[in-house]
Amino acid sequence: MSTDHVVTGDGPEPVVTGTDPIPASSNPIPTPAATPPDVVRCAYLDLVVTDLAASRAFYVDVLGLVVTEEDDEAIYLRSFEEFIHHNLVLRKGPVAAAAAFAYRVRTPEDLDRAVAFYTELGCRVERRPDGFAKGIGDSVRVEDPLGFPYEFFYDVEHVERLAWRYELHTPGALVRLDHFNQVTPDVPRAVKYMEDLGFRVTEDIQDEAGTTYAAWMRRKPTVHDTAMTGGNGPRLHHIAFSTHEKHNIIAICDKLGALRMSDVIERGPGRHGVSNAFYLYLRDPDGHRVEIYTQDYWTGDPDNPVVTWDVHDNQRRDWWGNPVVPSWYTEASLVLDLDGNPRPVVARTDDSEMEVTVGADGFSYTRKGDEEKGFKLGHTL
Ligand SMILES: [Fe+2]
Repeated sequence: MSTDHVVTGDGPEPVVTGTDPIPASSNPIPTPAATPPDVVRCAYLDLVVTDLAASRAFYVDVLGLVVTEEDDEAIYLRSFEEFIHHNLVLRKGPVAAAAAFAYRVRTPEDLDRAVAFYTELGCRVERRPDGFAKGIGDSVRVEDPLGFPYEFFYDVEHVERLAWRYELHTPGALVRLDHFNQVTPDVPRAVKYMEDLGFRVTEDIQDEAGTTYAAWMRRKPTVHDTAMTGGNGPRLHHIAFSTHEKHNIIAICDKLGALRMSDVIERGPGRHGVSNAFYLYLRDPDGHRVEIYTQDYWTGDPDNPVVTWDVHDNQRRDWWGNPVVPSWYTEASLVLDLDGNPRPVVARTDDSEMEVTVGADGFSYTRKGDEEKGFKLGHTL
């Protein structure tokens, strides 16, 4: 039975298609002849912060991430179920920015494949047998065709998996790194390149005219390892950690209130339409965005259906219809090149999701065909 049909979204359900329905980019990145590295999962983010003590207070004292190792220049943090050295490096530097989005690959030979793949794309490639970060061995970093610093590694120092160490867990325990989210001007261009790298689309947001606003892409069998969000880029939109259950996210909100830190809550808590996950967005002392995320769904079957949402569906980003704050659409972190300099940001020329859905010029609906405008229709901002 064919699964490449498109079901139009007349009812309350999003459009479901059997294959990636994202239109082709007008400026595609060529597909390399080289075999891509076999990426297992997103593994860690190398993040530059301007005040290491302030960041430690946020990520360790408030969010409860586990310190694997630290010195005056960097702090290596992991989540409770992690068994590799770290999921987040906080590195002291002059400009708050993302220095690398790091992926674990399946075998050491996949590093050779990464070098060949990105060399063929004409990208800057740097390989360090001793790694770029403590606890990580042979690694390849590249400036990818979208301008993002990507890292690939296999060799890693193993540490204790603290899954069973409940005496250490807090009510808001962060148990896994779930995903990255990247801002890039041309989403179809980004999707094709990531598909060439072996990623698959699980969900996306489009409009009837064929503009793509965002796409969620996976290697591990969850909704995503990274998402491509349309906007001025390259920039880091957020890093997301998982909790076991929804109540853990509520506990984080309660703790932030008790600490008189409710102003670090940017958006949520809520239920996403896209991904079906429960979410909360926070901003760290440098403004880097952190999502707390839980309970998305299995995507590992080869015929996993792609879910396409109408950009005007007011339940796509919040299933309960709560508005998305403008800062969530407009603000994001710079990314660095391999010399540590901020990458120039290129403006998006396609329609902006915020402009087509929020305010006088944009519209959203709760039920397709409704003309009524009101509190739940995205006109509150
Ligand atoms: Fe996310």
